[in-house]
Amino acid sequence: MDTILSGMQPTGQLHLGNYEGALKNWANLQDSYNMFLCIVDWHALTAEYDKTADLKENVFQMAVDFLAGGLDPDKCAIFIQSEVKEHAELHLLLSMLTTVPTLTRLPTYIEKKEQKGLDSYGFLGYPVLQAADILLYNAHKVPVGKDQEKHIWLASDLAKRFNNTYGKTFNEPSVLLTKFPTILGSDNRKMSKSLNNHIAIEDTEEETEKKLKRFFTDPTKVRKNDPGHPEECPVYLLHQIYTGGHEDIVAPCKSGELGCVDCKKRLTKNLNETVAPIREKRKKLVEKPDYVIDVLKEGARKARVRASAVMEKVRENMKMVYYK
Ligand code: TRP
Repeated sequence: MDTILSGMQPTGQLHLGNYEGALKNWANLQDSYNMFLCIVDWHALTAEYDKTADLKENVFQMAVDFLAGGLDPDKCAIFIQSEVKEHAELHLLLSMLTTVPTLTRLPTYIEKKEQKGLDSYGFLGYPVLQAADILLYNAHKVPVGKDQEKHIWLASDLAKRFNNTYGKTFNEPSVLLTKFPTILGSDNRKMSKSLNNHIAIEDTEEETEKKLKRFFTDPTKVRKNDPGHPEECPVYLLHQIYTGGHEDIVAPCKSGELGCVDCKKRLTKNLNETVAPIREKRKKLVEKPDYVIDVLKEGARKARVRASAVMEKVRENMKMVYYK
């Protein structure tokens, strides 16, 4: 069975975009792969090293979301990155094989540097730490969205160069591109927590209703009878996911028969119904924190078994075992 590794930063509430874009896909893969899912707390520090007060809660809530979203701890190891210290060791070793321009050319680096004014040494090394996450488990496949593709290529390139330099040690991992429509938020931009345009998994039905009422709609459809353009409307995008037979939205929207208020009401109902089982499960899990923590402990134990075996091979191949 091939191995998969993926990771997510514990930056707060998971939203529908995270669920549709990552979590649901992981849950579908867990039967066919040996899976490692890493809550990357060290990566979260690269952007906000001074904001550690919420980290513990965010990590816990992320584990809850993973479990509520259908990940089965018997099938995959869910663990916290910093609980497996080998991530740091391999990051250091891989950093020796990485040139600075390789990192400064990456679009993710350029974008965030501009947006957030980040320029720390730790932030520069973000993709090298990510490569360490992947190679440490000798992962074959890494399920990520398009924006992360270059990071996986870097990991694969590092594996190849490491193997050429020190002898065959790592698999060369490849991207398992997650194809999903980008979910847009209330302001018609990509749904994201930092833009505060999201619907969180943990939102109540009433909060969801309130948020949807404020959602951006086709600006040319001002009154009910105006013809709408569903293909340009983030509400229709959500209908595509949550409303079976969503085609009966398109024609009446276009003709003007269906107004935005009614359209949103239908979406609210369908969305809440679809997400209800996840929210239910979530509530139960939050009441059993000991169980959630046990899942993380067991996940870290499984991860360590694999990571320590790979690291032994790394040290051996690098001729850095000094005595037995
Ligand atoms: N960089 C990824 C993101 O921002 C998160 C991540 C960290 C990751 N380590 C990983 C993803 C390893 C896949 C594999 O989404």
